[in-house]
Amino acid sequence: MAYKQISVEPIAGSCGAEISGVNLANPMNRKTFAELYEAWLTYQVLFFRDQKLTSGEYLKFARKWGAIHMHPFVKGLRQYPEILEVKKTETDTYTFGNRWHTDQMFAPRPAKATLLYAKETPAVGGDTLYANMYDAYNALSPGMKTMLAPIRTFNVGDGNKRSAKYGDRQNRYKGASAKPKTPPKGVKTNSQHPLVRTHPETGRKALYIGVHTQEFVGFTGEEGNFLIDMLRTHCTKEEFIARFDWQKNSMAIWDNRCLQHYAVSDYPGQRRRMHRITIKGDKPY
Ligand code: SIN
Repeated sequence: MAYKQISVEPIAGSCGAEISGVNLANPMNRKTFAELYEAWLTYQVLFFRDQKLTSGEYLKFARKWGAIHMHPFVKGLRQYPEILEVKKTETDTYTFGNRWHTDQMFAPRPAKATLLYAKETPAVGGDTLYANMYDAYNALSPGMKTMLAPIRTFNVGDGNKRSAKYGDRQNRYKGASAKPKTPPKGVKTNSQHPLVRTHPETGRKALYIGVHTQEFVGFTGEEGNFLIDMLRTHCTKEEFIARFDWQKNSMAIWDNRCLQHYAVSDYPGQRRRMHRITIKGDKPY
């Protein structure tokens, strides 16, 4: 597509594009937003530099992408509960998001999109990696695609309940600045999903797996673990990955329906503070 309102510069062969020519704090006309949305579906994750927004302006921009998905396990900001602060201080040891995952996959209707806005960044390090799950699916052999097609996964949100093999268990948020909360009554935090999902807007197929995936339904633990390990390794091959180097006031918005992401924990003794908003999604099919 030829973009007229914005400039779009891909950052890797796999996914990701840096956008310029737009100030997200300003009201945005329909044509500009339509181009942004089109670029987002094409590149799966968009990055913006030097954006200066108040929390109110940030939330207003986020709402253009859909209704807000509240995190069941982490409290948001007091004044803006929709905004979750992902903070690591000089003394924290836990890095939020330091596993390959797709956001809130444990929910029956997982987050469609995530926005992340850099408030403080380390002098060096603290990048985020993204892996393209369309490409990971397409790279499988026809035989493997046929075998995986009917599989349903079981995904668990509470790290304390994860199997012995996967997850953080009792260390969840230990040494972290995140403020854990108990999920509100009636909010489901375990869900089954198709392993191969169809993107509801592009119609493309993507592998749908991440750290929350604990079992394959109807498989023994041994069989499921073997396939989960194989797919986790496959999904994060270098060919599928893009890397974003944050600066203060950078913003990203990514599509959880066709990407996994990973927060790199390589800045001990430094601060990193990000504001995160997630957007509600549909039931995967
Ligand atoms: C997340 O997993 O949502 C946070 C990613 C990051 O902090 O880079």
